[in-house]
Amino acid sequence: MGERDINGQNFNVHREQSVARMLMSAQEIAELNVIGTDIAGFTIIAHAIDAAAKIPVDDVASSQVLLVELRQDDPASMQRLVSLCEDVPNGRIIALVRDPSIAVVRLLMRNGLTDVLTLPLMRDELEQVLHQIRDSMQEEAVADHQLGKVVAIIPSVGGVGVTTLVTQAGALQAHRDEDLSREACIIDLDLQFGNAATYLGLNPSLTVADMIEAGPRLDRDMLLAACAKGPLGVRVVAAPPDIMPLEAVSTDQIFNLVDLAAREFRTVFLDLPCNWTNWSLSLIGRTDLIILVIELTVASLRQARRQLNLLASQGLQKVPVMIVANRVQKRLFRTISLADAEQALKHPVHYSIENDFPLLCTAQDQGVLIGDIKSKSKVAKDLVTMLEGCDEMLGRSE
Ligand SMILES: Nc1ncnc2c1ncn2[C@@H]1O[C@H](COP(=O)(O)OP(=O)(O)OP(=O)(O)O)[C@@H](O)[C@H]1O
Ligand SMILES: [Mg+2]
Repeated sequence: MGERDINGQNFNVHREQSVARMLMSAQEIAELNVIGTDIAGFTIIAHAIDAAAKIPVDDVASSQVLLVELRQDDPASMQRLVSLCEDVPNGRIIALVRDPSIAVVRLLMRNGLTDVLTLPLMRDELEQVLHQIRDSMQEEAVADHQLGKVVAIIPSVGGVGVTTLVTQAGALQAHRDEDLSREACIIDLDLQFGNAATYLGLNPSLTVADMIEAGPRLDRDMLLAACAKGPLGVRVVAAPPDIMPLEAVSTDQIFNLVDLAAREFRTVFLDLPCNWTNWSLSLIGRTDLIILVIELTVASLRQARRQLNLLASQGLQKVPVMIVANRVQKRLFRTISLADAEQALKHPVHYSIENDFPLLCTAQDQGVLIGDIKSKSKVAKDLVTMLEGCDEMLGRSE
């Protein structure tokens, strides 16, 4: 099991089960009824070994929790435990003792022991301690591992430019993240009509459908194998090649995929389907930022208002929402202004992206970035400004 797996105990992704290993004499093991069972996410394994015998290095290395028998009246047994605590300073070590004396417990705790349990072992006491350990492992995992930020880009109406923003901004973000050694990733969850990969000139053989099908077998290697490398190094997990029913997917499956991606990449952009499903709405609650894409039309504003209402009704207000007006015409041709939009939405419209159909259309038809068609464009500038705003809202601007 790799370090990532240990660090990621708090994530609902597939990983090998953690091991709580009991090192006890054969007669104590004979009294146990927990061997081979799973308790608090730990598989309980026993190794028959005398209370003073040397603890094999392999046992230590292959266990997340060690439960070690101690005979208080045997100095060698006592010394063995003290040495173990010294050798594995951050280990989770529990002493198993018959009638433990307060003096011994104090001494052991001072030496870094995690806890003491009384023999004969009671299942509920073991369960309680293992739960506490599990919780502290999860807290450490969050602190240890800098999780990437998940940004969902959602439409007000179909065709408003979600995939354009996901792909063009995703690639620009990959460029911005370049020096930070963690890449940006796009996951195309528009399971029926997704074309993010096509917009970037990619045609990967593995897609989101394979990740979903893999179920609990989904792991980091599989995710990386599915991540096609696009322009500026952006990683793309493509939508399925065939239209699949939106409801064929479970929330757990999608969460696993997104959690894995967030552990791997600094920024994860999600292209979501226009129609809400249980899983897509649930996923919104797990994101760090929502970009709601509007255009300055009555229909788009109306639907955007409904989207905001829906998010509020589902208790999702805690996720920050950035509103981006796409395809914004030059001032002279606008019938609805940004101020009108803000008034209609009762929400600030944070950024706008210039309307430039020839540029976008050419880039998308060729599967390249707009920068490859035109080195400097207002659209690209607008996208960078939007990404700077994202960093700010994600709390990671310098
Ligand atoms: N800023 C823009 N200026 C001009 N045209 C744009 C702009 N952004 C997107 N478009 C064009 O709008 C069309 C729809 O864009 P896109 O596919 O990104 O929308 P979408 O919201 O993902 O649509 P769907 O609902 O089909 O998934 C494309 O032809 C794209 O080139
Ligand atoms: Mg789209």
